Amino acid sequence: MTNLSLIHDSLTDGRYGKMGGQVPTHIAIVMDGNGRWATQRGMPRIMGHQKGVDAVRRTVEACIDLGIRYLTLYAFSTENWRRPLEEVNGLMFLLKRTLKTELKTFEENNVCLKVIGRRDRLAPDVVASIEQVEHQTASNTALTLQIAFDYGGRDEIVRAVRQIASRVKSGDLAIDEIDETLFAQCLDTAGVPDPELFIRVSSVLRISNFLTWQTTYSELVFPETYWPDFTKDDLLSAIHHFQKCERRFGRAAS
Ligand code: FPP
Repeated sequence: MTNLSLIHDSLTDGRYGKMGGQVPTHIAIVMDGNGRWATQRGMPRIMGHQKGVDAVRRTVEACIDLGIRYLTLYAFSTENWRRPLEEVNGLMFLLKRTLKTELKTFEENNVCLKVIGRRDRLAPDVVASIEQVEHQTASNTALTLQIAFDYGGRDEIVRAVRQIASRVKSGDLAIDEIDETLFAQCLDTAGVPDPELFIRVSSVLRISNFLTWQTTYSELVFPETYWPDFTKDDLLSAIHHFQKCERRFGRAAS
C-alpha cells in the first residue's frame, strides 16, 4: 500500500476527518499553471483555464469527501485585468458558465458558494450570476466554497480600512474598539476561519496578494503539478504535509 492510499484510508475511515482537528478546516489554493499547461500542448491559454475548471470540480468533490469545511480558490486577481482582453473575457465567461452549470451540484451536495473580491469592476451580467448562486446556496452548510474573483489581499485590507474610518468618522465606532477581531470582521472573509493550509501549485513560491491578512499562520505547500492536472492525491499529499507540521503560533517548540 502506498503512502497516499494509507493517508486516504485514514482520512476517509474517520480516524482523522471528524476527529482531533487533523484535517484542515479551511484550505486556500492558488490555481496556477493553466497557461503553461496549455502552451506545452500547443493550445491557447484559455484551454488551460477551461481544463482548470475540471480540476475545480475534482477538488470540491474531494473536499466534500474529506469533510473540509471551507475551500477558497483564487480565480482572478486584482492584477489579472492586465492580461490580454481575450483572456480576461474568457475567464469572465468561465466564471458565469461554471456558476450556471454547477448550481445543481452545489445544491445536491449542500455547498454554499461565496465570491470574495470587488464587484464594482465586474459586468452586470457577471454580478447577477454571482448574486443568484450566492442567494440560492446561502443556507447550505457542508462546504463553503469561496471563489476569489477580482480579489487582492491589499485591496481587501484598504476597503476594510475605509469601512472602519467611515464608522469612526460617523461616531459609530471608537478608535479603542479597533482590534484584530473587528478588523477581520470587515474583510470579505468575515465569519470564515483563517486557512490552516495554503497550496500554490506549479512550483511558484509566492503568495501573490492572496488572503494577505488571513494566511499569517497558514502552512504553505507548493506542489509541482500544474492546476489542470491537480488530483485528489495531490490534495491528500498537501494535507499529509499539514498533518506533520508543528503549529506553534509563536510558542516555543514542544
Ligand atoms: C493562473 O494560471 C490561473 C488563473 C489566473 C485563473 C484560474 C481560473 C480557473 C482555474 C478557471 C476559472 C475558475 C472558476 C472557479 C470559474 P496562469 O494563467 O497564470 O498560468 P501560467 O502561470 O502558467 O501562465
